[in-house]
Amino acid sequence: MADEHVDQASEIDPQPIVLSHVQVAPLIAAYAAGSQQTACSPDLGLSEVQVALSADGVRFPDGELLSWADARAIAAEENKCFTLRNGEIDDIAFFSEHTHWVRTLFPTHRAPTMLVSGITMHRIKGVDPHEDTLRKIRAIAPVTGRVLDTATGLGYTAIEAAKTATEVVTIELDPAGLEVARLNPWSRRLFSDPKIKQIVGDAFEEVQQFADRSFARIIHDPPMFSMAGELYSGAFYKQLARILKPNGRLFHYIGDLESTSNRTLLPGIMRRLKEAGFVKVIRHNEAFGVVAYK
Ligand SMILES: C[S@@+](CC[C@H](N)C(=O)[O-])C[C@H]1O[C@@H](n2cnc3c(N)ncnc32)[C@H](O)[C@@H]1O
Repeated sequence: MADEHVDQASEIDPQPIVLSHVQVAPLIAAYAAGSQQTACSPDLGLSEVQVALSADGVRFPDGELLSWADARAIAAEENKCFTLRNGEIDDIAFFSEHTHWVRTLFPTHRAPTMLVSGITMHRIKGVDPHEDTLRKIRAIAPVTGRVLDTATGLGYTAIEAAKTATEVVTIELDPAGLEVARLNPWSRRLFSDPKIKQIVGDAFEEVQQFADRSFARIIHDPPMFSMAGELYSGAFYKQLARILKPNGRLFHYIGDLESTSNRTLLPGIMRRLKEAGFVKVIRHNEAFGVVAYK
């Protein structure tokens, strides 16, 4: 696929209200208990506004109205988030022509994750997607200099890295993933932070374009092995070693290192990383991955 460098500034749309059952179920309960006004987050928990409750539905300060029928539909759907625009709700779901994966925004009580063909893209059990992201970043702290993020997803690792890096280059194979990110309030900085450079393309091919020793840190957070085997290959790891600066660090997300499938995969991953030129590979159980040192 020809890569496309995203012109971020010109593509920022006005953000719609985004809701899930987490925000909407309490509104239904409040109205049933007789309240005429209550607090509600219009952006999946990032901020809060006062909304008016009446027989018509839920009125937001910007005039948007959520009908009770739509509120009940959102409250009944635990696996999706919805936009509210011009009085209509729409589930955040995209089918990718490119990968044939269906992607939806999956709510949690904090940052949402993305469901890709039914698989969550971040940890949601015990550790929420935000904490999951912080653990990946902490494993290679301090994250300074130029950073490569091989798999954009919802942009959480890119956004977090950009807080301390001088530049973050992030690559996403699937434009449908970016469509979901565009509607996710927790991904907004992916499209507004001037330090983040997005590339739409295949990381396996894109890394070949980068100069030797051009990144201080690499965050490699690929889909599971069965969905993207080439991103776990010796050839790919060799490219990562080539473009990493001396003393640079690579965080490679794998998943629970104690799971049966990952216990089988891990020795091969660690061996291939060392063969590719990384001098030391350390397990980070808390971050569900390994850190490789150049
Ligand atoms: C686990 S998610 C990344 C999550 C991301 N780090 C975040 O913080 O939100 C993996 C992403 O890699 C993308 N992907 C899959 N194969 C890829 C490839 N060859 N090159 C670049 N991205 C790829 C998937 O579409 C998916 O969005």
